[in-house]
Amino acid sequence: MKFFVDTADTAEIADLAATGMVDGVTTNPSLIKKSGRDIMEVTKEICGLTDGPVSAEVVALDHETMMKEAEVLRKIANNVCIKVPLTIDGLKTCKALASEGTMVNVTLCFSANQALLAAKAGASFISPFVGRHDDNGLDGMKLIDDIRLIYDNYAFETEILVASIRHPIHVLESARIGADVATMPPNVIRGLFKHVLTDKGIEGFLADWKDTGQNIG
Ligand code: E4P
Repeated sequence: MKFFVDTADTAEIADLAATGMVDGVTTNPSLIKKSGRDIMEVTKEICGLTDGPVSAEVVALDHETMMKEAEVLRKIANNVCIKVPLTIDGLKTCKALASEGTMVNVTLCFSANQALLAAKAGASFISPFVGRHDDNGLDGMKLIDDIRLIYDNYAFETEILVASIRHPIHVLESARIGADVATMPPNVIRGLFKHVLTDKGIEGFLADWKDTGQNIG
């Protein structure tokens, strides 16, 4: 299972990349706003921090302008993955870009039928938003389960990129279902490392070690 970081904060990405756990990055217009930086400049910097795909989102709503924006974004670096919304124009753009060999992440997916359309359009990644699903009284993980079943039924190669992850249980459930990728805010990735019994265990071992009066090396 691949781990992507869902942020445009380059200090966070660099810090997490050093753990060896980062396989790519996702951004969106809200995350670019939060970074306070120019999209071209920050995306270029992010692309230098990982060899994996870096999703950069178009903001146009019509196919023609989406294609123009994609052209600008994909020139930033070889590992840019163009993110398009799950609309008719978004999927037309997905199909056109995929047929030219460009990586495409189809975002804002909220149903298994939408995921089926994205796979038929040749998406490299489909991004179902589990957190926003849960926020609206729906079952985000059931959506992932359905998409996995459908993609396996037809051997689609589109990778399921679980998005809008809010906590480590979303990651655990995604892994149990067999999702291909989880994109997480930095605090969720950090949360995966933590366990209260690990901290308590270290505390106990260090207290006993101190009593031995020994040093290693
Ligand atoms: C995915 O690519 C999106 O950037 C992201 O996961 C959205 O998450 P949110 O619902 O926390 O905004």
